[in-house]
Amino acid sequence: MQNESFKKYRPFQHAPQLTERQWPNRVLTTAPRWCSVDLRDGNQALAVPMNVSQKLELFQTLVKIGFKEIEVGFPSASNTEFTFNRRLIEEKRAPDDVWLQVLVQAREDLIERTVESLMGAKKVIIHMYNSTSPAQRRVVFGKSKDEIKAIAVKGAQMIKDRLPRLKGTEVMLQYSPESFSATEVEFAREISEAVMDVWQPTPERKVILNLPDTVEVAMPNVYADQIEWLCRHIKNRDSLVISLHTHNDRSTGVAATELGMLAGADRVEGTLFGNGERTGNLDIVTVALNLYMHGINPKLDFSNLNSIIDVYERCTGMTIPARQPYAGELVFTAFSGSHQDAIKKGLAEWADQKREHWDVPYLTIDPADIGREYREVIRVNSQSGKGGVAYLLESEFGISLPKDMQREFGPIANDAVDKLGREVSGAELKAMFWKEYIERTQPWELFGFKTESDNGKVRCAARIARHPGPVAVIAGEGNGPLAALVHGFSKMADVPRFEIAGYSEHALSAGEEASAIAYIQIKTSDGKIRWGAGVDTNIELASVKAVLSALNRL
Ligand code: KIV
Ligand code: ZN
Repeated sequence: MQNESFKKYRPFQHAPQLTERQWPNRVLTTAPRWCSVDLRDGNQALAVPMNVSQKLELFQTLVKIGFKEIEVGFPSASNTEFTFNRRLIEEKRAPDDVWLQVLVQAREDLIERTVESLMGAKKVIIHMYNSTSPAQRRVVFGKSKDEIKAIAVKGAQMIKDRLPRLKGTEVMLQYSPESFSATEVEFAREISEAVMDVWQPTPERKVILNLPDTVEVAMPNVYADQIEWLCRHIKNRDSLVISLHTHNDRSTGVAATELGMLAGADRVEGTLFGNGERTGNLDIVTVALNLYMHGINPKLDFSNLNSIIDVYERCTGMTIPARQPYAGELVFTAFSGSHQDAIKKGLAEWADQKREHWDVPYLTIDPADIGREYREVIRVNSQSGKGGVAYLLESEFGISLPKDMQREFGPIANDAVDKLGREVSGAELKAMFWKEYIERTQPWELFGFKTESDNGKVRCAARIARHPGPVAVIAGEGNGPLAALVHGFSKMADVPRFEIAGYSEHALSAGEEASAIAYIQIKTSDGKIRWGAGVDTNIELASVKAVLSALNRL
């Protein structure tokens, strides 16, 4: 950027003068009325718009999620859009309680075709818009405020005149002063009231007044002020459903919607995962689950988010970024060791069922509530620490390292991961563990081990090679096989004296090549401490191998 280039911009021009604003003191307690605009605003922003069968599949998914208002398209814009509308209606795809919403500009030919596309429908919302901001008035239309208002009023009248043709259809009307958030609030009110004067809403037959943040041009508190200002100043507020439609140009579409809800809105338009023009529309999944995490019923069902993601990605060709709230691949993944530890403890506390409300560190909601898996919680990179390493070995392979051994292997694994410079899978971690402990046969390698007992004394004869030397027999006695082996080694002149300082063993999960694993910690007379591990179908042999593994690591 050039040094002075910021000077070509100016502060936001249309913040309303709002005194004694109410919204900062309110809290949200219920879900709004939701309207999905995936099939219209989302679709129009795709490099390759959806075909009819893709739109049908996404429509069914939206219905399944629980949307009762769905903007299905812009039927006057193309044959595909018109045909889609007709198929929805003729094949009776919309449940009786779902409103099909269609968008239309305030132009007679388009209104005519739109009404035609709705014949025979059960419930429809006709959504008319025209653009109202100073830039749109000046650059696109070259018209004065009065002329822009006249377009809206004429369009409203044209729709009203055609309503008798939709006999048997329940019709709701919706008006959007497009680019509302960049419009002077007084003019937005004036043009909206002019439209309402034509449509004559009542508290029983309300009209939806949708207030788009078509391009996000200010901070979310400014949008909230605009919404509260309008709610307080518009005529016949009780005959209107105030609706929000935010985009995400400054990355605060969700915040703007949430503050707009506090400011008095009743309804929210948006798309799944925020698909839409430029930086996208409002991400409805995020707003709904944000409500959910505060104990508010969102009235949308995201309990199988993964299958919704599948349909979304297949139909739109879009992909969901890994950090996308709730839906991203990495959202329930902790990389840092301290996070992993806290999550593990939090989940254990939750599993105890002593707490009434979810309060697990680093997890805003229980991943299982939206069909995500705990397995995804921990993956391992160089920052993971011993907890993550141990968790992965245990959860994926049933390898349950003793605590002390975790302290030894954690840094070894981290170093290896660091050198790779990427995160590693559970299988890769297991391979590291095998290389470090199980596959170490230099210099000591076991070729056979026999014991016999006599009056509580165990005598052993171990056939062991000390590479590069030949196989030799090490014999010893003690009160158990391991004690006998340690005794055997103690008789060898050039081997450090050692004792067994730690021991643990367990069966390996089915499918593993050996049925048992033993972990042995040795401590040498000069203070060195090492862990070793061995696997075998025979637990005694697994322990002997573990001793040699520890010696090999001295
Ligand atoms: O972003 C917008 O302003 C729109 C309108 C047509 C509602 O999509
Ligand atoms: Zn939009």
